[in-house]
Amino acid sequence: MRAIVMSMLGMAVAFAANAAGEGGAPGKAAAPAAKPAAAAAPAPAPAAPTAAAAAAPAAIDWKAMKKPERKKYMKEVVMPKMKELFMTVDAKKYSAADCTLCHKSTDNFKMPNPKLPKLPGDEAGFKALAEKKPEVVQFMATKVKPAMAALLNLPEYNPETKQGVVGCPSCHTMEKPKK
Ligand code: HEC
Ligand code: HEC
Repeated sequence: MRAIVMSMLGMAVAFAANAAGEGGAPGKAAAPAAKPAAAAAPAPAPAAPTAAAAAAPAAIDWKAMKKPERKKYMKEVVMPKMKELFMTVDAKKYSAADCTLCHKSTDNFKMPNPKLPKLPGDEAGFKALAEKKPEVVQFMATKVKPAMAALLNLPEYNPETKQGVVGCPSCHTMEKPKK
């Protein structure tokens, strides 16, 4: 358990470093998923996946979608899946979850959302956070982030390769790194 937490911590820390402004080059895309669909037989599941976390990437082009389409997609696809995922943590608390879970208000769907907890912008801060709230950091990094990436059909940020798009700052604002 300790080992898992520590490796998660590594992920979170590496992530924070990138979010702090190394600015990954989006043009240099990660190696394409070269495997043909035939090879899609699910690899041995690393951990008992939840329905939502195991979701295959959606066949959408998020970047090309206009606001009304995005809204519709959020409502019909993202919301039910993410609610289901959050309910695996606390069924009671999240059974009434709606758009405001992530967006806080519905006048403006801009993300990241400064009303969500602001995350530390440096390694020390992330380390402290991961030690203080290991379960939530782990849930966010290994469930919420990949599920959101799959739903948006965008690559998940990978701290090892520093490639990818969907990460903690897709939803949370980040503090300025302390010098
Ligand atoms: C689990 C978190 C989550 C929930 C719940 C959620 N959204 Fe979103 N939403 C996001 C994220 C993350 C983005 C930004 C995606 C991106 O472009 O990187 C987003 C983007 C959007 C956008 C596009 C905003 C823009 O500027 O283009 C709209 C519109 C939207 N959401 C509407 C909704 C609606 C309506 C609901 C409820 C039915 C909802 N969302 C529920 C996470 C969520
Ligand atoms: C798809 C959007 C999304 C992404 C991506 C995301 N989070 Fe969150 N996070 C949330 C929402 C929504 C909440 C608030 C949940 C609530 O209100 O109960 C939250 C809450 C938190 C909290 C506060 C929990 C508490 O109990 O105080 C922490 C810490 C956190 N996230 C860390 C992270 C980290 C670290 C990452 C990246 C590995 C991350 N989040 C990625 C949506 C997201």
